[in-house]
Amino acid sequence: MGKDTFTIIDNRTGKSYEIPVTDDTIRAMDLRQIKVNEDDFGVMSYDPAFKNTASTRSKITFIDGAKGILRYRGYPIEEIAENATYLEAAYLVLFGELPTREQYEKWVYDITHHTMIHENMRQFLDGFRYDAHPMGMFISTVAAESTFYPEAKNVFDPESVELQTRRLVAKVPTIAAFSYRHSLGLRYSYPDNDLSYVGNFLNMMFKMTELKYKPNPIIERALEILWILHIDHEQNCSTTTMRVIGSAQADPYVAVAGAAAALSGPLHGGANERVLRMLKRIGSVENIPEYLKYVESGKERLMGFGHRVYKNYDPRARIIKNFAHEVFKVTGKNPMLDIALELEKRALNEEYFAKRKLYPNVDFYSGIIYQALGIPTEMFTVMFAIPRTVGWVAQWREMLADPEQKIARPRQIYDGPGERHFVPMDER
Ligand code: ACO
Repeated sequence: MGKDTFTIIDNRTGKSYEIPVTDDTIRAMDLRQIKVNEDDFGVMSYDPAFKNTASTRSKITFIDGAKGILRYRGYPIEEIAENATYLEAAYLVLFGELPTREQYEKWVYDITHHTMIHENMRQFLDGFRYDAHPMGMFISTVAAESTFYPEAKNVFDPESVELQTRRLVAKVPTIAAFSYRHSLGLRYSYPDNDLSYVGNFLNMMFKMTELKYKPNPIIERALEILWILHIDHEQNCSTTTMRVIGSAQADPYVAVAGAAAALSGPLHGGANERVLRMLKRIGSVENIPEYLKYVESGKERLMGFGHRVYKNYDPRARIIKNFAHEVFKVTGKNPMLDIALELEKRALNEEYFAKRKLYPNVDFYSGIIYQALGIPTEMFTVMFAIPRTVGWVAQWREMLADPEQKIARPRQIYDGPGERHFVPMDER
């Protein structure tokens, strides 16, 4: 067995350097000692979009993209989705262990009793135009929460961190549902403490004139599973945003708002909304071959396909696909499912997708189920942001406790002009 080091020979100088390799990784800062002369800054690594750079050590989520494995705190996602409640899974991700019964009951009580938002927040929501996109309202309202909780700025006060964690987990469904009700011009439906976390969300979304809203248990469980699958996914674009904003010691409300803004992009959480629009555009199974040709010509991406990390079937997509049929027994079949199933089958048989290892990701089937549950397309990314808030907060807490982390500040390779001198406007 050789040594766990690399020997780097700098052919510019003939000098050699021995660099430690730990967990198949070298520290980028170890490259800095490689210099042509004393004044030299030293060697950097260049990695646009962080395709091969680990920015942290983490104990939260494990992904093996080649094998299609996803685990929260070591537990396979399939076991969590099958056995845990949403708040049980959230507790696991946030605090590292499954809760005991006593811990769980206290956690559920605490979350249930933080679901209200300040009435001024409601008025804040009223200020949006009637057709404002719910994701824009969600992002802005979460950021505005920061103004109500000035103590949230004390990011190294453990009591404050615990309190803001509870508030964020408890309030995001309320903000999300109120955004939706506003977009319909419906009066807000306030939280009901008799219901589960997910049941209460359905109450805030869909309660009309009935005195007490009773969620359908199959729909409640379907949404619970969807949310469990979306809690965390290690250092993705929005989670990295959360850590970057958090690294400046900004409060967690503005950091979650920033992370949610990243999530809203069509290449990230906005993809589920795009999948539904794409399926609608395809319209029927007969049009699939022509559509795939269009994608293969590079004019468009097949939304809900491909992933930076998974080069195999996304395990979350498999779970969703399998229970879609259960949901449709209650809701009636969504005609989009037939198009999606056929689209998947055909795409997986095409050389273009096989060669690039493009498989369905979590967003491919989630939108079809959301639609069957009566959730409008504009709300899909908000539906993603609710559970992902747990992941963002868990990653933020881990970052704050990590002595190796500092304010995030990548380097650049300057490619612009050398020094030049100001030219007065009339001489340009
Ligand atoms: N449809 C068609 N071609 C694709 C797709 C797709 N969905 N995804 C990737 N490709 C192709 C690219 O054109 C590229 O081909 P080339 O080598 O001929 O240029 C190759 O596959 C590699 O693609 P990259 O863009 O380099 O892969 P990257 O890892 O940067 O992108 C991403 C990952 C953004 C998810 C991409 O697959 C994509 O755009 N998918 C569609 C959007 C989507 O579903 N996003 C949701 C992701 S999951 C989530 O955020 C929850």
